[in-house]
Amino acid sequence: MTAKLILGTEIREEILKEVEEEVKTIKAKHGAVPGLVTILVGQNPASVSYVTLKIQTANRLGFKEIQDNQPEDISEKDLLALIERYNNDDSIHGVLVQLPLPKHIDEKKVLNAIDPDKDVDGFHPVNVGRLMIGGSEVKFPPCTPAGIQEMIVRSGVETSGAEVVVVGRSNIVGKPIANMMLQKGPGANSTVTIVHTRTKDMASHCKRADILIVAAGVPGLVKPEWIKPGACVIDVGVNRVGEKVSEKTGKKVAILRGDVDFDAAKEIAGYITPVPGGVGPMTITMLMKNTLRSLKFKLGIA
Ligand code: GUN
Repeated sequence: MTAKLILGTEIREEILKEVEEEVKTIKAKHGAVPGLVTILVGQNPASVSYVTLKIQTANRLGFKEIQDNQPEDISEKDLLALIERYNNDDSIHGVLVQLPLPKHIDEKKVLNAIDPDKDVDGFHPVNVGRLMIGGSEVKFPPCTPAGIQEMIVRSGVETSGAEVVVVGRSNIVGKPIANMMLQKGPGANSTVTIVHTRTKDMASHCKRADILIVAAGVPGLVKPEWIKPGACVIDVGVNRVGEKVSEKTGKKVAILRGDVDFDAAKEIAGYITPVPGGVGPMTITMLMKNTLRSLKFKLGIA
């Protein structure tokens, strides 16, 4: 069997078109556009490229976008004051601090300083709690898990009653996607298992999965024999395993590999996401959706 590819690059375009249309409608009716500030501390090359893509996407959708670059040595106090300024700015609906932060800054303190009603990353403990309760309590589902759920739903994969196995227990992907898939409601209602580094027999759990979501950060961890024939396999891993010269640009680019042995897995799975071009493009897409949601909450139309 050859699996059907679930392409984040295609689903992204579908969703961004929907967001763009909604932005136009809201602008015409309410005279407001979503406002997003991205705070970047230092010049970590991976962060610079993420942030650049966020800005390009926000601009394309007609958002107000502020790119706030701060020096590597900004004090924690000054960064907290900056966040407070954006918390109080009515034209800003999403405040995002790009991670990772330099070592002298307490990441937890910074994330906790963002107004939970502008926390479009969904990382604030208040939003983590809202997600846990589920249903109408949820304000900002974290972007990567929300993107994964959209990919599953838009591919027509049945989630109700499905055995979902999540590999990895991170706060950003593993724990929230497991929580989202077990909630009552469309695109969820699944029976969920989380496996991790201390799990005794990871393979036996994975083999039961109708939907296998892998976010371990270990290239090629999931072997083809761990996959149930016909299963939906979502590979969240983006592992840099080397460098090559791009044919298009002539520049050095990273060689990326997922957590799943893709070439072998695609012959067994029913659906599979590639790396790159799978889950990756969905994170920024869902960030845009959350920023629009934030404006809609403010206008009372969410
Ligand atoms: N760094 C890498 N991914 C992310 C993300 O989704 N949000 C933030 N704030 N920082 C990141």
